[in-house]
Amino acid sequence: MISLPHWLDPPEIRTRPATADDCADLAGIHAGSFGRDWSEAEFEALLRQDNIHGFLALRRRTFRRSAPVGFVLVRIAGSDSEILTIAVAKPNQGNGIGRQLMEEALRLVYRESVQTLHLEVEAENDPAVGLYTSLDFETVGERKAYYSQGQTEGRTALVMCLQVR
Ligand SMILES: CC(C)(COP(=O)(O)OP(=O)(O)OC[C@H]1O[C@@H](n2cnc3c(N)ncnc32)[C@H](O)[C@@H]1OP(=O)(O)O)[C@@H](O)C(=O)NCCC(=O)NCCS
Repeated sequence: MISLPHWLDPPEIRTRPATADDCADLAGIHAGSFGRDWSEAEFEALLRQDNIHGFLALRRRTFRRSAPVGFVLVRIAGSDSEILTIAVAKPNQGNGIGRQLMEEALRLVYRESVQTLHLEVEAENDPAVGLYTSLDFETVGERKAYYSQGQTEGRTALVMCLQVR
């Protein structure tokens, strides 16, 4: 097999902005990661809004082909912003992809001069809480019996916040 020069060798994981054309991939990854599905139509409606931005993580398969393995959606509302959802496909979890996606979201909100980034997370979701805490998010609120559907029904949500600027 011919080995490529290192400068031509694309990274194992790369990220790019998500578009409405990625909705089927987003819905597929979401369905595999959460108890409740979001449909392609729901993702399309979100991504068509000007203040909602998404990033898709792709894992290299061959030199030319890559497969979507994770995504994050962020909503910007004036000086505040919110992580709407983040998911990494199960077999790819624990490999730094969630962190890479969160860092894309952080760079975006910083560029947009946003002051704060909020999110909600199920209190017992250790990987997610661990990721956010490692990025300096702090718990600013708690919502008891917050979830009404799926595997997390009846569980507590934490509201976490990062002071971006
Ligand atoms: C939460 C999620 C997005 C994290 O993505 P990931 O790619 O698996 O996470 P990473 O490999 O980037 O890990 C980043 C950090 O998260 C934390 N973390 C990851 N797995 C963890 C675990 N099992 N327990 C505690 N902390 C964990 C660590 O701080 C880790 O940093 P480190 O590797 O330097 O120690 C992913 O697990 C996922 O999609 N889960 C299902 C959907 C979900 O719960 N989304 C969040 C809803 S709020």
